[in-house]
Amino acid sequence: MPRFPEAPKPALIHAAAGRGGRSDVWSADDERRPARRTRVGREDLEGYYPTAVDDADQLGLSDVVPHDPTQPHHDQPDPTQPDPTQPGPGQRWSTWRSVAKGARGPEPLPEWVVTRDAALDTELGILKTGKEADAFLVERAVPEGAGPASDAPDLALDQAATRCLLVAKRYRSLEHGQFHRGSEYTEGRTVRRTRDQRAMEDRKSAWGRAVSATQWADAEFVALREAWQAGAPVPYPVQIDGTEVLMEFIGTEETDELGRTQAVAAPRLTRVRPSDDLLESYWDQLTHGMSVLARLGLAHGDLSPYNILAHGERLVIIDLPQVVDLAANPFSSDVLLRDCRTVSDWFIARGLDVDPDALFADLLAQAF
Ligand SMILES: Nc1ncnc2c1ncn2[C@@H]1O[C@H](COP(=O)(O)OP(=O)(O)OP(=O)(O)O)[C@@H](O)[C@H]1O
Ligand SMILES: [Mg+2]
Repeated sequence: MPRFPEAPKPALIHAAAGRGGRSDVWSADDERRPARRTRVGREDLEGYYPTAVDDADQLGLSDVVPHDPTQPHHDQPDPTQPDPTQPGPGQRWSTWRSVAKGARGPEPLPEWVVTRDAALDTELGILKTGKEADAFLVERAVPEGAGPASDAPDLALDQAATRCLLVAKRYRSLEHGQFHRGSEYTEGRTVRRTRDQRAMEDRKSAWGRAVSATQWADAEFVALREAWQAGAPVPYPVQIDGTEVLMEFIGTEETDELGRTQAVAAPRLTRVRPSDDLLESYWDQLTHGMSVLARLGLAHGDLSPYNILAHGERLVIIDLPQVVDLAANPFSSDVLLRDCRTVSDWFIARGLDVDPDALFADLLAQAF
């Protein structure tokens, strides 16, 4: 009966459980210098960890024939092949559960939102670099072979969403972004923590820059949440994590003749030439969205055909970090009037007879 050659006495088992239940185990007489490493599953440790044992026999190790490295292991994954259930390059674990509940999107949660712990976020590429933030396309999907939902064991696999596309809008710190939105927007907004206030004033400090980027992200998430809950046509805000806002991807997935799938973001309003009927419908949808915001006491603040997506027949308003509080901000009327004029100009140029001043008056009446 072959003995475990280097098995020292007394042997100590150390287990460092990693993600996915895999653990490194080694026998050693010195905790700092493991004598031998063996890859085993967590189930192999049941009853042993973290027990110190006197002899390898107690672990049944005396029967183990040392593995011939030239032969494949049949009971273990091939280490040369990436494990699809673990994050690979360009991937991370879904951040859904790692943020506080309040940092997730409003109820009722749309059924397409993937909430499973086993889901991976995969970077699919950059959608657009903006002035203050960059928009990335992210797939959140449960990989095949991930097993049943541990977080929702009574949920049948096919009931839970297993894949969705998201936009990650990541705000840059001030030194990289060109924060053109100044006090005109932040006027009337309270910054509760005076430490933050001081930090924002001291824009040279790295802390100050980070706080500002986080606050813009917060402002966008909160505005999206309120607007979505009130029924405005905006992307569903999935969650916020520091300077990253994750939201519904407005677009489609298209498959070409070679079977390759590609995500195509909805074009901005500037790029479309809608029919007369659709133009009118877009106007109705837009003014409805502006009315919802007005009733919340808000103006978008940077509304233009560049911040409106035309998703087929559906119109979606985006880019809301600078929303202006109509009651608290002394410049709010100017901001609202500018929004009304900018969007009206585009519709007028396309042949629709609309009146920006009438729209402005109507929105103000709804706000107060
Ligand atoms: N939810 C979304 N779905 C699809 N595309 C999106 C979404 N959000 C943003 N985009 C794309 O990313 C671009 C930039 O987004 P957004 O306007 O929110 O950021 P920004 O930093 O203000 O950019 P800009 O400075 O160009 O206005 C949009 O014009 C649009 O093309
Ligand atoms: Mg924009």
